[in-house]
Amino acid sequence: MTLQLGDTAPDFEADTTLGTIRFHEWLGDSWGVLFSHPKDYTPVCTTELGYTAKLKNEFAQRNTQVIGLSVDALGDHHGWIEDIEATQGARPDFPMIADADRKVSTLYGMLHPNASATTTVRSVFIIDPQKKVRLTITYPASTGRNFNEILRVLDSLQLTDQHQVATPVNWVPGDDVIIVPSVSDEEARQRFPEGWDEQRPYLRVVKQPQ
Ligand code: BEZ
Repeated sequence: MTLQLGDTAPDFEADTTLGTIRFHEWLGDSWGVLFSHPKDYTPVCTTELGYTAKLKNEFAQRNTQVIGLSVDALGDHHGWIEDIEATQGARPDFPMIADADRKVSTLYGMLHPNASATTTVRSVFIIDPQKKVRLTITYPASTGRNFNEILRVLDSLQLTDQHQVATPVNWVPGDDVIIVPSVSDEEARQRFPEGWDEQRPYLRVVKQPQ
């Protein structure tokens, strides 16, 4: 069954480069990014994991833990980490799941047999502190992901969870946002006393709340 937004992220126990973890316990009160890559010792994945390692502080600032997965064995993961550090200039110090029995990749629908009979596709799941799935993206093996986009979605989710706003097309932090339609003008006046730009009754643009 396909995991959908709002579903509870399935819990699991798995062997990782940082030892055995129980997923929900490991997440604790943090946000989580769970992502799969097709195979160890492959070029695109090497660049993705190096870049993710460089974003360590960015994820920490967003109270977010990152965890990777491939269907290769732990020994391969450990050897590959050395290569990632040597070629990308950053060492992944987040856990990488060795999913040789395909338990986690099956739970999360990361195996797309018509795309690859043996390897996972590039799936991304953002999971909130209530363990709900808040974003799913699936990329083909030949296309490296944009991890800046994952940070941007985390920023949007964390902002919109806190305020009654949504973020418009191509929004980046600091840009104006939109008052959600379920907020009446009366309530909006309380929440946004400095006012808003009413382009249409349903399109009310306001400065990003701090
Ligand atoms: C890669 O990570 O480079 C890759 C993996 C599978 C297919 C194509 C590219």
